[in-house]
Amino acid sequence: MKVEINDDSKANVLISKYLQGQFAEHLGHGIYDGIWVGKDSPIKNVNGLRSDVVDALKQLHIPVLRWPGGSYADEYHWQNGIGPVEKRPKTINHSWGAVVEDNSFGTDEFFELCRQLGCEAYVNLNLGSGTVKETVDWIEYMTADGDSYFANLRRQNGHSEPYKVKFIGLGNEAWMGGGYMRAEYYADVYKRYQTYVSEYNGPLYKIASGPSEDNFAWTKTLCEQAEPFMDGLALHHYALTNQWNDKGDAVDFDEEDWVSLINSARQMDSLISRHLELIPKTTDLVVDEWGNWFNPLKGTNPAFLIQQNTMRDAVVAATTLNIFNKYADRIKMANIAQMVNVLQSMVMTVGEKIILTPTYYVFKMFQAHQDATLLDAFHESNNDLNYTISKKDQHYIISVCNVSPDKPHDLTVTLPSQFEKATSAKCLNSQQMNAHNDVDHPDVVTDKDFSTYTVDGKSIRMDLAPMEIVALELPIK
Ligand code: AHR
Repeated sequence: MKVEINDDSKANVLISKYLQGQFAEHLGHGIYDGIWVGKDSPIKNVNGLRSDVVDALKQLHIPVLRWPGGSYADEYHWQNGIGPVEKRPKTINHSWGAVVEDNSFGTDEFFELCRQLGCEAYVNLNLGSGTVKETVDWIEYMTADGDSYFANLRRQNGHSEPYKVKFIGLGNEAWMGGGYMRAEYYADVYKRYQTYVSEYNGPLYKIASGPSEDNFAWTKTLCEQAEPFMDGLALHHYALTNQWNDKGDAVDFDEEDWVSLINSARQMDSLISRHLELIPKTTDLVVDEWGNWFNPLKGTNPAFLIQQNTMRDAVVAATTLNIFNKYADRIKMANIAQMVNVLQSMVMTVGEKIILTPTYYVFKMFQAHQDATLLDAFHESNNDLNYTISKKDQHYIISVCNVSPDKPHDLTVTLPSQFEKATSAKCLNSQQMNAHNDVDHPDVVTDKDFSTYTVDGKSIRMDLAPMEIVALELPIK
């Protein structure tokens, strides 16, 4: 395959760094044990957050983290999670296995996590079982700086400065677990809540609960009735091998399953383009849940959504990030589900040990695209290759993914200016579709130096093995 970019002088679309966002829900070990172990834990931690996980995640330069759900957001009552830990009530997590939630990780702990990761906060508010007052009070607790009750309560809890909240979500999957609402009804509820959200510490970017998958009617109705009141509309799309009631195995699969999952993931492209046709240009699309969803790992609590992560997950992650980049003019943020121990995670914890997943390495390799200028991004479902070409800090940045499990492919890119040999050239590959890392074999799939490329003036030719992902940074002469 050959690509030629002759002129980049008019390129002006930025690939928002927020496209590489993450999501952490109170679900299984997504928070507890996964990231929060508490200050008294024998596991090394800083202010209760486990250091091994935070250190690994810091390498990804995570731009934004969504919390506390997901489904859990619509049953979360924030006042249960503030103040002295021993006084916090124990509640039940009805969304995920009816387990006891001790609320030891709450608002202040979330912002400590954001501080340690160096990321922005995306707080999903409770429109399902909460009240307008609760929402208003939470915003005041987090962001107000005056002499008011909830700002003073935050100070009393040891946090004198207001937090910076960049993004707020108003409800989650309102068409299902968020209240089984009709789009018309949700539009009214959304408008009512957002009316009372005050901005104390910078603007709040408001995200409405958008459609599931191909529910175009939801997008149409919501935009007709509430679009002027929103900044972003959320889309959720999970890739499945089969269907919802049998999602297939994360590790034990054949080539047919490979193709089926990749095709399901690739539907992201048409879902985005078709929803965008219905959304006025004044509102962004936000894909705040995406990733692979398999049957839960055998022997684990099925409500905890624990699944292994293989080379196939890496190919889906790379392909999806390349699809997002293709629509960078209209998509502001995306959040993979989920950051630790849940669904298509970056990190899995096993007691005191951690595993970095193949998906982790894709995010590591793609981070150079964050806030880069888009030159070209390609994805077509009948082509084995997908890619992004961008420009930042006098470098061309190229990411390519070969989705074929058995065919090698080459890509030659000709760029407007001459460039030097790559300052960074990485690849992720395996000869096995289900290669993965575990506690005993943590380095089966890791990023390696990529060498099968040649540079000739303004052109570069890359030779990709089957199911290989490549990322290069080329300094412009
Ligand atoms: O990510 C897991 C769940 O999937 C989320 O809580 C919910 O929004 C979606 O159905």
